[in-house]
Amino acid sequence: MTLANQSFPTHAAATPMVSIRNLTKTFQTRHGEVTALGDVSLDVTRGEVLVLLGPSGCGKTTLLRCIAGLEHPTSGEIWVHGRKVFSSAERLAMPPEKRNLSMVFQSYALWPHKTVHENIAYPLVVSKVGKDEIQSRVAKALEVTGLGKFARNYPGQLSGGQQQRVALARALVANDGLILFDEPLSNLDAKVRERLRDELIEMQGQFDFTAVYVTHDQIEAAALADRIAVMEVGRAAQIGTPQDIFRRPQTRYVADFVGCSNELHGTLHELRGELAVVQTEVGLLEGVATDPALKVGDNVYAMFRPEHTRLDTVSGSRSNQYDAFIERSIFLGTHVEHVARVNGQKLALRSMKGMMQPAGTPIRVTIEPEHVSVFHDGAQH
Ligand SMILES: Nc1ncnc2c1ncn2[C@@H]1O[C@H](COP(=O)(O)OP(=O)(O)OP(=O)(O)O)[C@@H](O)[C@H]1O
Ligand SMILES: [Mg+2]
Repeated sequence: MTLANQSFPTHAAATPMVSIRNLTKTFQTRHGEVTALGDVSLDVTRGEVLVLLGPSGCGKTTLLRCIAGLEHPTSGEIWVHGRKVFSSAERLAMPPEKRNLSMVFQSYALWPHKTVHENIAYPLVVSKVGKDEIQSRVAKALEVTGLGKFARNYPGQLSGGQQQRVALARALVANDGLILFDEPLSNLDAKVRERLRDELIEMQGQFDFTAVYVTHDQIEAAALADRIAVMEVGRAAQIGTPQDIFRRPQTRYVADFVGCSNELHGTLHELRGELAVVQTEVGLLEGVATDPALKVGDNVYAMFRPEHTRLDTVSGSRSNQYDAFIERSIFLGTHVEHVARVNGQKLALRSMKGMMQPAGTPIRVTIEPEHVSVFHDGAQH
């Protein structure tokens, strides 16, 4: 595939909806230059939901705004619908309204003095769609989003969840096939957020639009994504299906971000295929090698999630089992989280049906080897 031509010389069905090549963006600030994006390349296929997941300041919004045309990248190329919309080398920057995409923001961004109906119709009015066509498309969007009875209301008369539905209806009505979402659910309370998230999944199935969806919430990411790109200061650290990302994080950064909050340092003691046995401060620990380049004797980190541990009061002597003491237990509604100490090391454990345990209670911890990821100590490289 040559990216130098004006359109992709491939079959339409195989043409990605969005292609980003070597995109960089730096901002000049009073404190110097900030690199928001450092050489990002990725494709979003048609009908796919790609979630950009990462902590605050890693460049998620900047990447979305570059795709939309609201931000000018410093260098690189962007293709949307198979058309080149940005190229630093060619000094090409297509304006946002020509890119055939819609955006849904965290802050809803509705016109306060227009009714729900007028807000939803707005992109169609701007692009001079005929009156009858506007009526039927808005009616359909109102129906799909359950907003029919609010058509004559103003945004100020609606709840946050209802306002975000209006923004969603406005994006759907434009029928561009590509919607960019910037943390659209993060201003809503937990229950509304979950309901709207599920409705969004249903609507995506129904309308088959392509989405680039920004969030810093790993559960939202897993629920919505066909693929997740985990962002780390201006670049994609790992791109894969939710299963790949959660079960097989490739770096310590990704593992940590998706909730592998337990980290034990050690040296690689033995390798048997993918099975890696690590000599740690708590004893020998079996896990899965993440990198074929790992060698016996390497400094490594073993990481695992609190929910991939088990607590027993009876003692046994299987591998990956250790004597521990409870330091504290916290009841979190659906489960109990314990902080335990094993040979001086602090571990976070989770039990779904477990009981609160008084501080000092001796326990036996089992760590599931298939869920322990063993990484190179980054400092070596
Ligand atoms: N207009 C700007 N001027 C200067 N620096 C900026 C500007 N916009 C973003 N940045 C910087 O670029 C980096 C990436 O910002 P961005 O808004 O893309 O992060 P984000 O991942 O969306 O974060 P959040 O989760 O907090 O929304 C940050 O360091 C930010 O301070
Ligand atoms: Mg942001």
